[in-house]
Amino acid sequence: MAPRVPAAVAKRVRLGSLARAGMGVAVEYTTLGRTGLRVSVAGLGCGGFSRLGLGRGRNEDAAIAVVHAALDHGVTLIDTAAAYRTEDVVGRALAGRREGVVLATKAMVREGGRVLSGAEVVASLEQSLARLRTDRVELFQLHAVLAREYAHVMAEIVPALLRAKAAGKIRHIGLTETAPNDHGHDALARALEDGVWETVMLAFNMMHTNAREVLFPRTRAQGVGTLLMFVVRNVFSQPARLEEEMRGLVAEGKLAAEVAADPLGFLIHAAGASSLTDAAYRFVRHEPGVDVVLFGTSDVGHLRENIASILKPKLPAADLALLRARFGHLVGVGLDGPKVAG
Ligand SMILES: NC(=O)c1ccc[n+]([C@@H]2O[C@H](COP(=O)([O-])OP(=O)(O)OC[C@H]3O[C@@H](n4cnc5c(N)ncnc54)[C@H](OP(=O)(O)O)[C@@H]3O)[C@@H](O)[C@H]2O)c1
Repeated sequence: MAPRVPAAVAKRVRLGSLARAGMGVAVEYTTLGRTGLRVSVAGLGCGGFSRLGLGRGRNEDAAIAVVHAALDHGVTLIDTAAAYRTEDVVGRALAGRREGVVLATKAMVREGGRVLSGAEVVASLEQSLARLRTDRVELFQLHAVLAREYAHVMAEIVPALLRAKAAGKIRHIGLTETAPNDHGHDALARALEDGVWETVMLAFNMMHTNAREVLFPRTRAQGVGTLLMFVVRNVFSQPARLEEEMRGLVAEGKLAAEVAADPLGFLIHAAGASSLTDAAYRFVRHEPGVDVVLFGTSDVGHLRENIASILKPKLPAADLALLRARFGHLVGVGLDGPKVAG
């Protein structure tokens, strides 16, 4: 059954159409920390396994349709990366529609086993700008940085980024973690010791909530904008993956077998969530310290559902309490993905 679309979403969709017609916009926005950028609370992720559909065997026209659907629904934050190989389709999709979009991209800081120089990272930025068909990005992020690379990043790469910023090619700079390899958020925790980063991208989900203690108090105090990833990924979108994760947790003695047998079914009820993905997006959206919830998809129907979920109210208090009691001790669940690229 399709989830009921709240009035706020219906309004947003109509106003998105009005915006295209140049008649004003009033969708749901927030401020991305001290960047001061106004951004939609739902951000389109162009990476992950879906890569706008290119990762699922869809063609480029279908990928462009996903971007257009996001814009039509009022999404203004689009997150891509050189490593995703979606910059070119994003650039094509934004032809004539670039205004008002907060475009975020990233560069890796390593190639093979080698860390890159500042000049190499800026060369990656230049290539990204060409593929995106733009002369600057609102947010440029270093992609999947490990704590052990951080000293090099500060000494060698940040000065080059600041020069690119002064030259007008970047408006703001951010750092993203490599969640599969950094369950404790070590790289971002280290980065928050410096005042240079305006945003961080981090993993946070119903079974991986340690950012609540490790990061959010500090990002909030410092005005560092936050973008969330790994909210759904495979664990909450593929029942077989959830079962597999649960079996692993039972085997490690981290979860009781009775809980693992039906871990999240209690979330789905008339006054609660309509699906696990609905629960997952609503769970993170209302967490203090969360600015933008990224969602990745190949499917326009999923896109609509996800935006609707992100705009829905909090999950019921009793459900949130049970989530915390059952899974609050877990770390690193659902962080599947490439072991190097993030
Ligand atoms: N280190 C980094 O910098 C890093 C790492 C990972 C991700 N990211 C960013 O974060 C973004 C979001 O992460 P993510 O791609 O893993 O997104 P996600 O929202 O956590 O999960 C997306 C997965 O869930 C599925 N899905 C989405 N909506 C669904 C729905 N309504 N019903 C059923 N399945 C649904 C998608 O498959 P369908 O295609 O079938 O919808 C996709 O496989 C990425 O695109 C990227 O921009 C950054």
